[in-house]
Amino acid sequence: MTARTPVVAELVTVSRSVQFVRYSKRELKAISEVNALTSSEARGKGVSVRMRLAEDLPFIKGDRVQLQQVMLNLIINAIDAMSSTSDGPQELTISTRMNEPGAVLVTLSDSGPGIAPGNIERLFEPFYTTKTNGMGMGLSICRPIIEAHGGRLWASANIPRGAILQFTVPVDPAVPP
Ligand SMILES: Nc1ncnc2c1ncn2[C@@H]1O[C@H](COP(=O)(O)OP(=O)(O)O)[C@@H](O)[C@H]1O
Ligand SMILES: [Mg+2]
Repeated sequence: MTARTPVVAELVTVSRSVQFVRYSKRELKAISEVNALTSSEARGKGVSVRMRLAEDLPFIKGDRVQLQQVMLNLIINAIDAMSSTSDGPQELTISTRMNEPGAVLVTLSDSGPGIAPGNIERLFEPFYTTKTNGMGMGLSICRPIIEAHGGRLWASANIPRGAILQFTVPVDPAVPP
């Protein structure tokens, strides 16, 4: 057991309560709500989580468990990053919106130490980690999951500090809005 185990357990709980992918038409799912991530758990770590969710997003076709895994990994990474600095308020903002053309965009913006520009692509390499107990596998697994859904996953710098991790998932053309 490492010191971070309780945090991971808390986030699994949080992630379960995240209605990230909506099942409203059999196997077709929508990213429409990430509504329940208010999480006293995250607040217990000194992190406040804000949700900015677009209403009435169209349906996407996706694997609920895989997309939750992606979200969970991105959330844990953001909280790890923010826990590593005591600099200023620790805020994670999760937002969803339409991204033209024909894709939903999910954005996680944190106020951690951010990513050095030269390392932005290294993040997605297997075994790349800056954590003592890190595996460095999370993002290298998230990217092919998103690409298998026909989307993209990338990192950039947040302003004035922190990191932004974003991914798209295409809208399902077979389902009317
Ligand atoms: N939100 C973030 N802010 C700053 N660095 C990050 C963030 N997310 C990921 N990283 C960097 O990317 C590395 C790789 O992440 P990941 O593949 O999930 O592996 P791990 O979490 O095991 O280190 C992390 O060790 C960290 O250096
Ligand atoms: Mg990780």
